[in-house]
Parts: sequence; structure tokens; C-alpha cells
Amino acid sequence: MAGALVATVAVSISQPTSAAMLLRYELDKASSVTVVVNKSRPLTPVQYAPAKFGAYNLAKPASDALSKMRLAMAKAGAGELLLSSGYRGYQTQKAIYQSKVALLGLAAGQRLAAKPGFSEHQTGLAADLSAVGQGCSIRVCFAETKAGRWLAKNSWRYGFILRYPNGATKITGYQFEPWHFRFEGKPLATAMHQAKANVLESFLGLPRAPRYGLPTPTN
Ligand code: DAL
Ligand code: ZN
Repeated sequence: MAGALVATVAVSISQPTSAAMLLRYELDKASSVTVVVNKSRPLTPVQYAPAKFGAYNLAKPASDALSKMRLAMAKAGAGELLLSSGYRGYQTQKAIYQSKVALLGLAAGQRLAAKPGFSEHQTGLAADLSAVGQGCSIRVCFAETKAGRWLAKNSWRYGFILRYPNGATKITGYQFEPWHFRFEGKPLATAMHQAKANVLESFLGLPRAPRYGLPTPTN
């Protein structure tokens, strides 16, 4: 796409030559697995919906990766993975946003739910995950469950990242959401893991997005 924002991130690899590997990520295009959506970066078009779904209510690549991760998690004894919420269309997201703001007030509501057109769920690449019988579904205490711990540690192997980590609200604009995993594809998820980076915007060198409106400079 002409004029698209593409991040080039240098990642050092230890095998076999220690050479730097340059990876390029498409950040603007709504259909890209590496599209960045936050309070400064709405979807284009704002009513975007994915073209192809998989067995789960997710865009095909995210759904396929979730199937693999589900099997691995069960095999590791970490529990039976459930997709609590996957793709959400513009109207569904609008209803969720309005109900959270009505329930919690504007500030807390906006730290938990995105405005329609600004949600990763609308890309079909975000998955709210829980596990059968482990409780804490869509709650901060999910981080302490067996499933929550396993996912935080291993989801990168399947191309997912924990998108709203603890302590990153000033960058992401959202509270800690240990249940919200975002499919980014294996190259980016692996690069973040290797760099010990846990915030997408910081890793890509993008501005912080704590609130709606203009991008906030990083320094
Ligand atoms: N809970 C996330 C931020 C969303 O509504 O997209
Ligand atoms: Zn979510």
C-alpha cells in the first residue's frame, strides 16, 4: 500500500552467524496480521470486517493458530482453552463500549473497552481467552490461573502476544487484560519474545496511545 507505515525492526539472532535480521511489518492495513490498532490508530475503513474466518470466530490465520495453541495447552496439562470473545463487529463493539462506560464511568470504561472502529476485536485477530473450570474469566485474576500463566509464557510460540500487559496503561491506553491475546504472526511474536519486549507500541517505536485524539510523542 503506497505510503503505508511499515516498521523495520532489527532483531539479532544467535544462530548461526549472529547476523542482524531485518523484519518488516505492515502496520496500517486492516487486513494485515500485524496491523496496529489503538486509541490513535482507528481501523480503515472504520467498519472493517475480516474476509475469511476459520473454525473459531476469528480471522483464518488467528483461528488456525488458536487450534494449535489449544492442543498444546491441553498436552501441557494447563487446561482446556476457551475462546470467550473473538471477532466483534462495529455494532457489537459499540454496544460493549457503551455498556462498560455506563457501568464504570468514562475513564475506567475506556480503559477496558475500545470505541467501535478502534478495537482489535474488529480485526478478528484478538482473542479473549479462558479455560474450563479455572474461573477468573475476563478478570485480572486470570493471570494467576494455570491457563493464564501458560498462555502468558507460551502464546508467542503460536504467534500471539499478551497485548495489554500490567503496568503499560500509559502506553496502550488499557488496563491489564491478562485474557486478551492478539495474533501478530510468528515472526513478530517471536521477535518480541527474543527482545524481551512486552508492549507492542514500544517494540515498534510507535507513539504512546493513552487516549483518543492525536498521537502522544514518546518523549
Ligand atoms: N478490551 C479491548 C481493549 C477492546 O475492547 O478491544
Ligand atoms: Zn479482548
